[in-house]
Amino acid sequence: MNEHVDTADKGPNKQMVELLQGAWRARAIHVATELGLPDLLERGERTVAELAELTGTHARTLGRLLRALSTFGVFQRHADGHTYSQSPLSAVLVSEPGNAESTDARFMAANWHWAAWGDLLHSVRTGDSSFEVANHGVSFWELTKSDPEAKERFNEAMNAVSREESTGVARTYDFSGVRTVVDVAGGLGSLLAAILTEHPEVFGTILERPEIVPLAQARLEAADVAGRYEIVAGDFFEQVPAGADLYTIKRALHDWDDDTIVRILEQIKEAMRPDSVLLIIEGVVDEESDQEALFRGLLLTVLVGGQDRPESDYRALAERAGLRVVRTVPVSDDLRIVETRRD
Ligand SMILES: C[S@@+](CC[C@H](N)C(=O)[O-])C[C@H]1O[C@@H](n2cnc3c(N)ncnc32)[C@H](O)[C@@H]1O
Repeated sequence: MNEHVDTADKGPNKQMVELLQGAWRARAIHVATELGLPDLLERGERTVAELAELTGTHARTLGRLLRALSTFGVFQRHADGHTYSQSPLSAVLVSEPGNAESTDARFMAANWHWAAWGDLLHSVRTGDSSFEVANHGVSFWELTKSDPEAKERFNEAMNAVSREESTGVARTYDFSGVRTVVDVAGGLGSLLAAILTEHPEVFGTILERPEIVPLAQARLEAADVAGRYEIVAGDFFEQVPAGADLYTIKRALHDWDDDTIVRILEQIKEAMRPDSVLLIIEGVVDEESDQEALFRGLLLTVLVGGQDRPESDYRALAERAGLRVVRTVPVSDDLRIVETRRD
């Protein structure tokens, strides 16, 4: 008994009301995910009273939330009016390791994330992140350092995306002749794990913030590449491990403004041998980008003051840092490897 909202044939006023209320629908999905309702219903149908008991929530309000969600296909409402089961849409949010949609939903559900979007106006006015303004002066990087739960939500969301695309990078780029790789800001290690798995002759190093190192350690231990890597706790503004054949930096430059990106690239250049290669691996956008890419770009600004850029910007920024752009290798529709050299 899903009461689907029919969006066809509506005048602009009704369409606008739906758009304005889109934030409510998103927030209702966040809350359902936060309460673990998709996981609970994965084990079979439940009444509102049972779900309220299991989640420690207010039954009447929970019932209203579920009914509202079922009107657009998130959960299936039964004919008795108070029993719910999983629907194809709610099933997408079941929390399984590496499920990009459920980890994304948990990332978006955090109050600090929602609060930052709430201050989008600040970002549009200034071009800066709204995160600090919305979160009592604490920046995104400070919070994901000091608050273990925020750290976990962010890194799981990053890692779910990264895992899928990392194998693509490791298989697309020609690693022949490469023996040592440094992945700068390597996150939880999915790119390095993919490179080491695909290319058994490579030894790899990750440079990451000290608070991320134990998480990366745990992931790499699970990847069956023992003895072939090291993880360096550090700061890419200070020092990057020197002398590797190949350097990579994936989806980390987009967090910063142009001048800061040039500083990071210069720091990597300092560490490179004259014949080292640096791969800048980034999602690229252009004017024709789809809606999701455009909103993800805004999210970067809201959270950290970053932005997605067209490929030409990365080429120009690399050149500003004194690197020579050799070529671009497409990995997927939006992911590009910009290959640069120091010589
Ligand atoms: C958007 S994530 C990308 C992570 C990973 N490369 C990936 O593709 O999943 C950006 C990473 O930059 C790291 N980072 C931020 N500031 C850093 C710094 N000063 N030095 C080293 N790493 C830093 C963060 O800890 C985070 O893991």
